[in-house]
Amino acid sequence: MGDLLKIKGGKPLQGQIKAGGAKNAMTKLLVASLLSDKKCTFYNVPNIGDVEITVNLCREIGSEINWDKKNHTLDIVTHELKTSYVPQRYSGSNRIPILMIGALMGRTDEDIIVPTLGGDMLGSRPVDLHIHALQKLGAKIEYRDMKKEGAYLAHAHHGLKGAVLSLNYPSVGATENTILAAVRAKGTTLIKNAAIEPEIIDLILFLQKLGANIMVDVDRTICIQHADQFHEVEHTIMTDRNEVASYAMCALSTKGRVFIEGAEHLQMIAFLNKIREIGGGFKIKQNGIEFFYDGKLKGGVHIETDVHPGFMTDWQQPFAVLLTQANGTSVIHETVYENRFGYASTLKEMGADIELFTQCLGGKSCRFASGDHHHSLVVKGPSTLHGKEITIPDLRAGFAYVMAALLAPEISTISNVEYLDRGYEDLVGKLIALGADITRVSQPKKHIDKTKNAIQNLLTIDKTLASV
Ligand code: EPZ
Repeated sequence: MGDLLKIKGGKPLQGQIKAGGAKNAMTKLLVASLLSDKKCTFYNVPNIGDVEITVNLCREIGSEINWDKKNHTLDIVTHELKTSYVPQRYSGSNRIPILMIGALMGRTDEDIIVPTLGGDMLGSRPVDLHIHALQKLGAKIEYRDMKKEGAYLAHAHHGLKGAVLSLNYPSVGATENTILAAVRAKGTTLIKNAAIEPEIIDLILFLQKLGANIMVDVDRTICIQHADQFHEVEHTIMTDRNEVASYAMCALSTKGRVFIEGAEHLQMIAFLNKIREIGGGFKIKQNGIEFFYDGKLKGGVHIETDVHPGFMTDWQQPFAVLLTQANGTSVIHETVYENRFGYASTLKEMGADIELFTQCLGGKSCRFASGDHHHSLVVKGPSTLHGKEITIPDLRAGFAYVMAALLAPEISTISNVEYLDRGYEDLVGKLIALGADITRVSQPKKHIDKTKNAIQNLLTIDKTLASV
């Protein structure tokens, strides 16, 4: 349960907000700092749930962390590892624990045990590419069934050795994990078909300051040489391009005008092309980007999500809401995750005209061409969306629901708000600053416990009846 959002839509968003540091950079940089015993200072650190979880993970390992949330700065130093065992209670928390393997294998000969992963349920999200790549460097990794959840046990008792390896798919996480392991591996490592997302480049910038020698080649091959001399680092986190895109789409769908301070043009090229194609307006300014409604939104847009520098998969869920307001029919072909349209049914209940397909509706067939995955979406607009009771299933779908609620003239109630807290700092405050009619209603803890107990009792009764 947790807090609820109550939103009454129908008003254009107007004004200015500041985008925060990137969730998908900051969490990895914290793990990367474990490679050395040097102090690392970060600026533009977002106050979000995923960073909280990662800070706690690092403290478990032995990091000393001073997080000044008011000034968005954080110091971390890990003089020595207290343990190389990440407690099972972090199982299912987010995608970060698996990256601990790459970071810690160079610092300890002990076994490293990390719980199985969480993160948004967007498909199977296996870690085979992580494991294969790390094994190439000499790691031994096995899956262990534990009491409740599984765990991965990893070690490199004879140290890691550089290798030439190729990823079957340019996985962001697998690329990051391999880079972290390669920094302290003997010799040189080449990662072919690597991911080169801006967050990975931010990680590389950090690692170069730390003391690593890393080069990104034109064919997406990343070369990492062994390093063992490290330095203190100061690093400013890149802006969160997902937060920028999310609020930009809110501005356009509500026929408003919003300046997003900190938005970085270089990260948004594919997004801005689609904004122009749909008839939205944007103006690149010295310290950010202004997004504005510039007349009727045009359908007939075809989006195929892809790895960088393509259209980012994290942008497609809110973009689908934007397309419900465009005149005409548009198509989204999701090629990164097999199950990232879970939000479509709720949007249809709100009034959107959306159909899902298992075919690859796009110029290229993707990894999901043969399965029965609903990974293509057709949306007709414009539609009037109506208020609804909504439960958030994942972070970006959650933002898509907020966007839809901001369009509905009736009041919408949104639960599972914690999902949004994982990736959006002060969402309510920022939307209120832009004129939205939104309030956050805290559910009293005892109420939640009572609700949980009631549900538990019902489940027990149900089981008893079933066994009669
Ligand atoms: C990162 O997830 C981001 N999360 C995701 O953002 C983002 O959508 C994704 O990269 C793609 O850009 C974080 O950085 C914490 P992947 P990650 O490994 O690293 C398959 C958000 O909203 N795959 O590039 O987990 C996988 O199943 C989140 O902020 C394997 O098959 O993404 C998926 O289909 C959502 N085997 C595809 O690759 C593996 O070993 C992309 O996954 C690893 C991945």
